[in-house]
Amino acid sequence: MSQAPSVLFVCLGNICRSPLAEAALRREAEAVGLDVVVDSAGTGAWHIGKGPDPRSCDEAQRHGIDIRAYRARQVSPSDFHRFDRILALDAANLADLERIALPGAPARLSLLLDHVPGLSGQDVADPYYGGPEGFEETWRQVSEAARHLVAELQR
Ligand code: 4NP
Repeated sequence: MSQAPSVLFVCLGNICRSPLAEAALRREAEAVGLDVVVDSAGTGAWHIGKGPDPRSCDEAQRHGIDIRAYRARQVSPSDFHRFDRILALDAANLADLERIALPGAPARLSLLLDHVPGLSGQDVADPYYGGPEGFEETWRQVSEAARHLVAELQR
């Protein structure tokens, strides 16, 4: 029996973008009956233990998903052993992850939008300081990425 693949999404605060990415992948995987371990974390420590930003909760709710029970945590070196894939929401998150990655740990690091044809190398912009439209755009990007990720994981 093969083990379920595991995916960790990482942004800065783990309250805006990565919780939405987590919710989107859970939904897409469930839709096709794919067994996958999904989690999210932040590179920063400011919001540890807090729920997602209310604007992320509202955006998820608009898509019928309740993420209010999610709790922010900080990424740790052990994540590089616990997850097959660690996906950074933007290039700064990726650079931070590369700094703390343990040599020889199995996790494969990449940028989330590298998994979307035509968007490789691009960031999911941080919506924290903007209005609700930024969260809509985040949802569009992470849900598209989640569809491609599920297809990759099924291969
Ligand atoms: P996230 O957004 O990285 O998508 O969760 C942010 C959340 C909080 C802060 C920055 C970005 N902050 O500076 O507190």
